Amino acid sequence: MESSIIWFWMSLCLATVLWFFIVFIFTSRKKSASNELLLQPPPGPSGWPLIGNILDVGMMPHQNTHKLKTKFGPVLWLKLGMSKTLVIQSAKAAEELFKKHDLVFSDRKVLDSLTASDFDKGSVTVGRYGEYWRMARKLCSSELFVHKKISASAPTRQTCIDIMLQWIKDDSAASIMNGGGSGEIQFSKYLPLMTFNLLSNYLVSRDIITDSKSEKGNEFVEAMNKFMEWNGVPNLVDSFPFLKWIDPQGIRRNTDKYLCQLMNIIGGFVKERIQEKLSGKEKKTNDFLDALLEYNGKGGTDELSERNVIIIVLEMFVAGSETTSSTIQWGMAELLRNPDSLRKLKDELDQVIGQSRKVEEGDLNNLPYLQAVVKETMRLHPSLPFLLPRNAMEDTKFMGYLIPKNTMVLLNVWAIQRDPDSWDDPLSFKPERFITTKIDSKGQNFELIPFGSGRRSCIGMFLGDRMVSLTLARLVQNFDWKLPDNAPPECMDMREKVGITLRKLVPLTAIPTERKF
Ligand code: HEM
Repeated sequence: MESSIIWFWMSLCLATVLWFFIVFIFTSRKKSASNELLLQPPPGPSGWPLIGNILDVGMMPHQNTHKLKTKFGPVLWLKLGMSKTLVIQSAKAAEELFKKHDLVFSDRKVLDSLTASDFDKGSVTVGRYGEYWRMARKLCSSELFVHKKISASAPTRQTCIDIMLQWIKDDSAASIMNGGGSGEIQFSKYLPLMTFNLLSNYLVSRDIITDSKSEKGNEFVEAMNKFMEWNGVPNLVDSFPFLKWIDPQGIRRNTDKYLCQLMNIIGGFVKERIQEKLSGKEKKTNDFLDALLEYNGKGGTDELSERNVIIIVLEMFVAGSETTSSTIQWGMAELLRNPDSLRKLKDELDQVIGQSRKVEEGDLNNLPYLQAVVKETMRLHPSLPFLLPRNAMEDTKFMGYLIPKNTMVLLNVWAIQRDPDSWDDPLSFKPERFITTKIDSKGQNFELIPFGSGRRSCIGMFLGDRMVSLTLARLVQNFDWKLPDNAPPECMDMREKVGITLRKLVPLTAIPTERKF
């Protein structure tokens, strides 16, 4: 009897402890669940009914969202029509995103224009995160990331730059001879042609433009320019998806028109190569196109269709040409506006290379000031100021805020790279700042991420970096440059124009005088 009373009291105590334990667990879980529910999106301006913050963002979105940072902080919430948007504007927030949440933000928000002809479905650049994208990215990275492959094609890049320097020299001389002009040239006429040739040699082993007046090349350049222009126009459909079926500004229709033209040209190269392979008369090219077609030859469930091969080759032109040529143009503009930096670069080239031979890619590691000029150019003028739009794949808790599934995520690297919290005298062009620090631009230092970071970072960064560095070096080594009409360098118009990349609003012109070696 006594022992049963003891058992009774012991069981009661145990049951009570258990009860408290269960209640504690249950209430604390409930509390944390309700805390989750209480999480809010980040702060941002309240916006107008229906259009939300479209007017706050305006025509210079990278600059206008940067201004909002003072009031709302580095993690900004916007509603662009119906589109929920997160904007990251500090190195610390970018680091948090890439280090802790890279996977969940590895999807892309696909612009409506790029759904034309199902381009997005075959694309690495704008494709949704998934099995196809992983396979295609891995395949392309092994061609575009590997130093050995890039180095093997260095002589062709040198030749493409030689050809551009000759065009510049000839056109400048012709302007003096024929028109009594000053000999000034416009960089934006030559840089895109050179980068197209450079890429086409790397990708499909041929010049796409044989001279600066070539017709086939011009058809490609013209279609590419139109494709880029239409894609740079802000599209109502991206903010109001229910308008998709009307396509009120005709952006998807026009993109489709130029996309088909471009795909026909690239499709011609692909078909030719397949024919050569079939007939056994194949030249030993061993280029990017070969790698894609050989992968296909291996069969398997994730085989690339011919159409996807065409899309991938084409998108490498889109991703690699304007980014590179606009960076080179900004670099020359900064050098001409800062004659001291131009002189230091010229001195470095003269001291390290001398005047008896051309600078080569193998020299780039021995040219620290040139590398610093390239980084400083990319810091002030990132060609993709918001990187490429990401998409949240699920509801995510980010820095104490709730980011709902399907939010568009923009990284304002233009703002991050001008942030006084990260940089001294952030608006001045000072390559010297990189001589004393080890900051590099490849995605590990979050105050400088012109190529992005994480799973969706640029796969052409090594190639792009080399193209920019070598071209700048050769332009400076080969010519003395001055501004037309003896314009004072500090008065140069540095305004920006927003399109698919951040271009210089007023194209850069200058007068070259060939340096005698
Ligand atoms: C100065 C030159 C270049 C710059 C500044 C640049 C910049 C960028 C940036 C910012 C991104 C988006 C990264 C992100 O969302 O985190 C990107 C993506 C990409 N870039 Fe580049 N790029 C350059 C050259 C190139 C070249 C030469 C190629 C290839 C020929 C290339 C191919 C790509 C591809 C395929 C992607 C998409 C990667 C993905 O979504 O998985 N880029 N680039």
